[in-house]
Amino acid sequence: MRKYPIKIIAIFIIVVLFATQPEKSNPKSDPSDNIINSTLIITDTVKSLLRASCFDCHSNETKWVWYTYVPIASHFTIGHVNEARKHLNFSKWKTYKAGRKLNKLAEIKEFVSNHEMPLKSYLWLHPEADLTEEQRKIITDWAIEEVDSMSSLIK
Ligand code: HEC
Repeated sequence: MRKYPIKIIAIFIIVVLFATQPEKSNPKSDPSDNIINSTLIITDTVKSLLRASCFDCHSNETKWVWYTYVPIASHFTIGHVNEARKHLNFSKWKTYKAGRKLNKLAEIKEFVSNHEMPLKSYLWLHPEADLTEEQRKIITDWAIEEVDSMSSLIK
């Protein structure tokens, strides 16, 4: 059997890697469901922090930057975004039931104050999305305040 030249094999592998990339999408969502447009006591500062540091993964407004088009890196990042959206999608905030919102707010407080979010691997490529201690406190204070006001409504 004739051996295939290495170049052909390499091109074949590259084509397969590109062809098997998972789908990159920003599903349509109702803008009125977005946390940004919600009735929460959310200040412009908190909105812009969430937008700058969380929305690439936890919303339907992901900015798909160049490396998300490179095979392997793309498999990794698209997987992260899909996983993040499943857990918490700020674009769908208003569709969450009260209990789920309370749960997510408590987790936001915990994950942000413990430096678990934004993900370290993301900050490596997006240092501008890192949060200072002061900014982390602004987010956690907001989440606590929000939980308090929601709990008093439910009671
Ligand atoms: C690079 C993508 C990425 C960014 C940016 C990011 N997250 Fe996440 N987040 C994830 C992934 C993936 C998960 C699910 C797996 C896990 O818990 O590690 C997650 C989980 C969470 C959870 C847990 C939700 C649950 O139901 O378990 C919270 C809360 C959260 N993130 C908040 C935030 C906040 C707040 C920000 C911004 C300050 C942020 N994340 C930024 C990827 C990201």
